[in-house]
Amino acid sequence: MAVSYKELGFVNTREMFAKAMKEGYAVPAYNFNNMEQLQAIITACTESRSPVILQVSKGARKYADATLLRYMGRGAIEMMKTLGNPVPVALHLDHGDSFELCKDCIDSGFSSVMIDGSALPYEENVALTKKVVEYAHQFDVTVEGELGVLAGIEDEVSAEHHTYTDPAMVEDFVKRTGVDSLAISIGTSHGAYKFKVKPGESVPPLRFDILAEVEKRLPGFPIVLHGASSVDQAAVATINKYGGKLENAVGVPEEQLRKAAKSAVCKINVDSDGRLVMTAAIRKVFAEHPAEFDPRKYLGPARTDLIAMYKAKNENVLGSAGRY
Ligand code: G3H
Ligand code: 13P
Ligand code: ZN
Repeated sequence: MAVSYKELGFVNTREMFAKAMKEGYAVPAYNFNNMEQLQAIITACTESRSPVILQVSKGARKYADATLLRYMGRGAIEMMKTLGNPVPVALHLDHGDSFELCKDCIDSGFSSVMIDGSALPYEENVALTKKVVEYAHQFDVTVEGELGVLAGIEDEVSAEHHTYTDPAMVEDFVKRTGVDSLAISIGTSHGAYKFKVKPGESVPPLRFDILAEVEKRLPGFPIVLHGASSVDQAAVATINKYGGKLENAVGVPEEQLRKAAKSAVCKINVDSDGRLVMTAAIRKVFAEHPAEFDPRKYLGPARTDLIAMYKAKNENVLGSAGRY
């Protein structure tokens, strides 16, 4: 039987985005695949008084088991109550690629889904997105669509080149599909290698001109930025120092994210930064304590570093801290 996210204590993204738009910040959307990541996100967002979107990808469902993962999401709500004053939490499907996947998430208590038809021909993207919206809205679940394709390669999300969003198409897409938010492509990409630059060279600016044009055509409409990890160079250096091999890993400079967060960008997606921080902490423990074999002794420090990273992002980059 279908379960309503409202009974579970989640919220959809509508109010979250309206407040973020009005006050000029972005809501963090952090991916999780395991317990330590989820604990860190919940702890960081509760302590920094930030709303949060917990993101579950298709790959995460495959890795951690879809049932276990959604119960972990529910567990996060209960955990938050024990920490004191809870903040708003949305449980969101990241990069849904079919109606069936979105429906399964909606029926099992997700409060928000993304249907990513961005690689499809335009009319097919419109038709698929509209179908998901019509289903989701019956249950007051919010839907994120995407126009334009990000470059980059991840487990379940891949494209070789950017196709920047064409601002001339956004009004038609939003009107015909009824989506609640729109992910656009302005030069970010997934993963830890976002720009091809030599060490010391600065990365090219995002296409803020496209974002401005989209805002002009869709005033007050929530825009989503994927591929928004900053790829902290200290984390990369730690990984490489302790036996890793990440060459020329670069992300989006925080300055550009701050600028985006003050615009119509209401949701900023971060996954890779969490992966990097975790890997750096675990490699350090392994290198410094080679006799250690209790997972709590290396996952614990990784969780501590994740909490610090998420808090810093909420406080210094997205501006979402202290809003509740
Ligand atoms: O945008 C993609 C997210 O980082 C999820 O990645 O498909 O490897 O879980 P994943
Ligand atoms: P990053 O790879 O930059 O963290 O992007 C994550 C993302 O867009 C999830 O949908
Ligand atoms: Zn993404």
